[in-house]
Amino acid sequence: MPEVRIDESVTPAAHRAGLTAALEARRVDNRFHYAGGAAAARWRALAAEHSPSRDDADGLVAYEAAARTALGVLPDGPVHVIGVGCGDGVKERRLLGALAGTGRRDIAATPVDVSVPLVTAAAEAMQAVPVVDATHAVAVDITLVRDLSPLLAPRLPGTRVVTLFGVLSTVGDGALAPAMSLLRRGDILLASANLLPPSPDARDAVMAQYDNRPTREWLGTVLTEIGVGGADDIRFRWERSPTGDMVVGEVTPSAPVVASVGGVTVGLAAGMPIRVLESHRHSAEGLSRMLAAAGLDVRATCVSPSGEEGVAVGVSRG
Ligand SMILES: C[S@@+](CC[C@H](N)C(=O)[O-])C[C@H]1O[C@@H](n2cnc3c(N)ncnc32)[C@H](O)[C@@H]1O
Repeated sequence: MPEVRIDESVTPAAHRAGLTAALEARRVDNRFHYAGGAAAARWRALAAEHSPSRDDADGLVAYEAAARTALGVLPDGPVHVIGVGCGDGVKERRLLGALAGTGRRDIAATPVDVSVPLVTAAAEAMQAVPVVDATHAVAVDITLVRDLSPLLAPRLPGTRVVTLFGVLSTVGDGALAPAMSLLRRGDILLASANLLPPSPDARDAVMAQYDNRPTREWLGTVLTEIGVGGADDIRFRWERSPTGDMVVGEVTPSAPVVASVGGVTVGLAAGMPIRVLESHRHSAEGLSRMLAAAGLDVRATCVSPSGEEGVAVGVSRG
């Protein structure tokens, strides 16, 4: 079993306080949809079956092209892969397999995620790659802990390759700073984002990826647990955001409800929406610009055949 370091930001007390405060602001932020065992299991099943980013003929094409670019700029010597918001680590496992396939033997890996069940699964996935040392995992909330470097100390020798896959789209652009906090000059970041292709039917196709039974049931897990509705109560729509368009999911109670979070109750008035999902869509150029503005020399932004997934590779200048 991996040793999971549990930061204070993800203790049950922090989770309770965070979810209570979020509900008072009429939100169930992304981080709360992965924390519990049932929600994490539903998300894993959903991602494995339906995520375009895991489609061999589509999303994975972009991830593999980005991995080739990263391997091309990676110096010889030890390498430490750190997966920030890694989920169950399926994408990092492929990256580690590609690294091991080049004959490298000095490879360490550390999964980092808000979800204890997911970060544990990720460490197990990474350990399954022969030659990879992935004995530690870190559970931390990156919206609360912006400098992750103390959690990854002491720094291992060699080059860090930090991944930030699927997190800019779900947590938002604020997720970039914690990932950047792990980089020194010459280290590499691979960051992905959901894109909105320019075709006329793209918005309907993207919406169908959210407004479906498995996604509703995943998002409904925590809502049912705390008593603010269920899968069928969620309404999805498009909304403009400062960085582009996003899909929003909301529940609007028709009568007052009292949510219960680990014994703490929050009263929610009728008729006012509770936001339970924000999923941002970037452009490939916007993703590149964001990484460049953060201090990275962007070597490539790889786009999937459908145009829905972008993976950028940057080398740290600072
Ligand atoms: C869309 S999933 C992507 C997972 C994985 N990287 C992938 O591409 O399959 C978003 C991930 O971000 C994690 N996450 C959400 N909010 C977080 C937070 N505040 N701190 C750390 N991780 C967070 C979730 O637990 C989840 O694993």
